[in-house]
Amino acid sequence: MEDRELIAKAREAKEFSYSPYSGFRVGAALLGKNGKVYQGCNIENAAYTPTNCAERTAVFNAVSQGVREFEAIAVVGDGEDCLAPCGVCRQVLMEFVNPSEFYILMAGSGEQYKKMTLEELFPAAFSPANLEKNEK
Ligand code: THU
Repeated sequence: MEDRELIAKAREAKEFSYSPYSGFRVGAALLGKNGKVYQGCNIENAAYTPTNCAERTAVFNAVSQGVREFEAIAVVGDGEDCLAPCGVCRQVLMEFVNPSEFYILMAGSGEQYKKMTLEELFPAAFSPANLEKNEK
């Protein structure tokens, strides 16, 4: 799938954003190795901390359908700047992907976008491999 197609899917997901507190709409589209796209939007809460980012919604959407292998994620906001995933979402992505092969496409309202691997965006991360290497 072309980068721009995945970004368009993220833009589509942004329309469902539930963000009455921040007014900051975000959409994400996660491409599975099966070729399917799993969308997500940010979902806010009156208690604030239960808020779920668009990227995590997309991951949880896919995983709850039995899909755990991914190629790339696109994330889009309404602002001009290319939107980068927060630290919590980077950590959640680390759980399921090979960080040197998984791409993050970051876009805003314009045509331009940034493309980085998870490893570039989230170096020296804690991952499931760290637990496996820990002797009990
Ligand atoms: N948000 C996302 O959905 N993804 C990001 O990458 C950054 C932040 C959401 C969380 C909250 O609903 C709003 O944007 C403002 O932080």
